[in-house]
Amino acid sequence: PLVLHVLGARPNFVKAAPVVSGLAGIGIRQGIIHTGQHYDALMSDVFFADLGLPEPIANLGVGSGSHAKQTAALLTGLEEVVLGHSPDLVVVYGDVNSTLAAILVCAKLGVPTAHVEAGLRSFDRGMPEEVNRVVTDALSDLLFATSPDALSHLANEGVDAARVHLVGNPMIDSLFAALPTLDPAPVRDRLALPERYGVATLHRPANVDSPETARELVDAVREVARRVHIVVPLHPRGRARLAEAGLVSGENLSIVDPLGYVDFLSLVRGASLVVTDSGGVQEETTMLGVPCLTVRPNTERPVTITHGTNRLVTPALLAAAADKALADGAATPSGDLPPLWDGKAGARIARVIAAWLKGDNLSP
Ligand code: UD1
Ligand code: UDP
Repeated sequence: PLVLHVLGARPNFVKAAPVVSGLAGIGIRQGIIHTGQHYDALMSDVFFADLGLPEPIANLGVGSGSHAKQTAALLTGLEEVVLGHSPDLVVVYGDVNSTLAAILVCAKLGVPTAHVEAGLRSFDRGMPEEVNRVVTDALSDLLFATSPDALSHLANEGVDAARVHLVGNPMIDSLFAALPTLDPAPVRDRLALPERYGVATLHRPANVDSPETARELVDAVREVARRVHIVVPLHPRGRARLAEAGLVSGENLSIVDPLGYVDFLSLVRGASLVVTDSGGVQEETTMLGVPCLTVRPNTERPVTITHGTNRLVTPALLAAAADKALADGAATPSGDLPPLWDGKAGARIARVIAAWLKGDNLSP
């Protein structure tokens, strides 16, 4: 049998690596289709190197565009490549447009699919990712959940429980694997950062796409930078808009290119504070025990609040929340991480896929 993984964006690479290595460990033939949604070396190549992912067997080079244009290019490119390889299973990850397109293409071609990170819900249909999550889960044959709340969301949407497997979080597997190599000092030196610093990442459309929200957010981040030096490895989305809004390097603020996986997590590991709107970073800070302030009105990852170090904040409340987080000091790595966030999710997923390929009855 042949398993294909469809990957397109930075967080996909991080989630797929443990699944690819789990399947390799049990000798299942597989290949990666890179859609090319993310294409800059610092958004793509560096992750393949840092995570030890094998070379893709195809790169569709779809690039950027409006949702319709990008999704259309993804649909056309993926249909051809899936037909060309006749896979027995296609595995998709997370909630990006590449995920949505792959699930649609496979559903129409009758190719079975598995969704890794199923059932997360922000209940905010204004997020493009929420739309992608709902559609992907409705069409997937196998659904792998990272946290128990996902199970009730899927049940409420009428997904057959026999198709759903709570397996833990492969993004945390990747972090476990990288942990011994995470050293803040060399990255801090290279970026000329002081010993005490915070890290910020910002890329959600709701935060960066309009000049008004960008300005409000940048003012809030600059306010935090008056308390602790802030380094911002800046995602290409909104780079220009955030700069116009005043997010430029200065005495207490370092705006740098996106960092590779190991460099970024090294920096996070040594940080006093993280400010973010990323999905994955909420989870990684929970595992590393670093206080995380998420500048969003909601999260599809509530376990990072109940079992971790995450808090939701508005731009207006960010500076006060940062004061508190800095005064309280680094939270100790949580004694009760979310269930199954133990570094073994990829192996669990691989076992379920292997059994499914053999036609075993998988009902829990
Ligand atoms: C995408 C995902 C988002 C995820 C994020 C991870 C969707 C709808 N969104 O958002 O869920 O959190 O990836 O990082 O799929 N660009 C570059 N170089 C690149 C890639 C993008 O310059 O290698 C710029 C382009 O100007 C592009 C913009 O970033 O128009 C947005 O890229 P896109 O992939 O459409 O969405 P992201 O904002 O990256
Ligand atoms: N990340 C990285 N370099 C950076 C910023 C993020 O390696 O400069 C990693 C981060 O550790 C996590 C993943 O990228 O593993 C998250 O991707 P992103 O925030 O772009 O997407 P989201 O999780 O919001 O979908």
